[in-house]
Amino acid sequence: MSAREANDNLEKIPNWKSDFPIESDNATHVGRREFAKFLALFSGALALTNGVIVVRSLLFPTKPLVGEHFVCNETEVPIGKMFQFEIKGSKVIPYILIHLAENEWRAFEQKCTHLTCAVRYREDLQKIECPCHHGFFSADTGEVLQGPPPRRLPQLEVVAKEGKIYVKQREQVNG
Ligand code: FES
Repeated sequence: MSAREANDNLEKIPNWKSDFPIESDNATHVGRREFAKFLALFSGALALTNGVIVVRSLLFPTKPLVGEHFVCNETEVPIGKMFQFEIKGSKVIPYILIHLAENEWRAFEQKCTHLTCAVRYREDLQKIECPCHHGFFSADTGEVLQGPPPRRLPQLEVVAKEGKIYVKQREQVNG
């Protein structure tokens, strides 16, 4: 390659350093303003998602379940454990099945009655916890034990037969 060609090639390479004068220390620095913007966008997206869930549950109230619905085999859920399942109808409703003790099963809607966060069974406390605002429900009845939830968790009746677990609509309980 001649000296002239080498010179032409050099001219084609842009001078990145002078065009974008960022110190390498600053290259990974996230400013307070950028971080605040990210937080605002992230919280906005979360609020929107929760808002959609609330609006959908108001617009499309849960219809009573018709008939029995197979959930799982008894052997799939050891005593003290929780099993998540869904029932599809006009919308998908998430539920939890809890194996409380020998032949003792409970099934509840998984949406907290406060702001619809997903609840979970805490085997160590033997209670159902909502991690969003530290709400607690009875794993036996779904009643509120602590925190902001205004109502008990909607509950299904559990039917165990021939080693299989089914759920069906339960008589309405006030509370
Ligand atoms: S969403 Fe469950 S306690 Fe607030």
